[in-house]
Amino acid sequence: MLDRSPPSHGRFITFEGGEGVGKSTQVKRLVAALGDQSIEAVRTREPGGTPKAEAIRAFILQGRSEAWGPGAEAVLFAAARYDHVSQLIAPNLDGGRWVISDRFSDSTRAYQGLTGGVDVRLIDALEVLALNGHKPDLTIVLDMDPETAFRRVLEREREAMLAETGDRFEKEDLEWHKRLRDAFLAIARNNADRCVIIPANQTEDALADEIWDVMTRRFPELQYEHTA
Ligand code: TYD
Repeated sequence: MLDRSPPSHGRFITFEGGEGVGKSTQVKRLVAALGDQSIEAVRTREPGGTPKAEAIRAFILQGRSEAWGPGAEAVLFAAARYDHVSQLIAPNLDGGRWVISDRFSDSTRAYQGLTGGVDVRLIDALEVLALNGHKPDLTIVLDMDPETAFRRVLEREREAMLAETGDRFEKEDLEWHKRLRDAFLAIARNNADRCVIIPANQTEDALADEIWDVMTRRFPELQYEHTA
């Protein structure tokens, strides 16, 4: 007899934090670790994740919307997110796959809202519209002292300048990195049921282990055994 039971719903996990904290590497490692436990996980990122959202990403990160100011940019990030949620995140979760996103809506709240000065009412409204109820099950906030983060970004910038791939958010100063860090910490504290803050200034392996620890505590279906 055919098994007609619907696949169970996937889990939605987001990574957040300032610049240069090592999110992308950890997102990749987590997807691989889930794969080791036969859990199908989709790796994605914001801004981006779908062709339309990637087009908006290119427009913003090339600096073409910079003169419009952080309010209009918050709307653009939300437009990208609306497509990302409806076309990629929701269908995958409904299909039983886990979705791991490198940045999500907390980035708009931190960058455009708390750091960029956009009215919290606009940020709240955009979030309701773009998410359409798809709140992450877990958000891992990678936290790093701003001096180290700033140094890492400067190194990345030097490489990007050589390769001409740098984006416009990578040219801010130390004071801005401090405000950004405080913004993410405030968001995590205000959403303590969803967010876990993890110090990012440790080796890649140690960080991956700590993230896996958090995952197994949060999601009982995962086994603790894990070789990072
Ligand atoms: P990316 O190259 O993905 O940077 P990172 O490796 O730091 O994640 O570029 C994304 C940039 O866009 C990053 O500087 C953060 C910024 N951003 C916002 O300002 N608002 C948002 O809502 C999102 C998703 C990203």
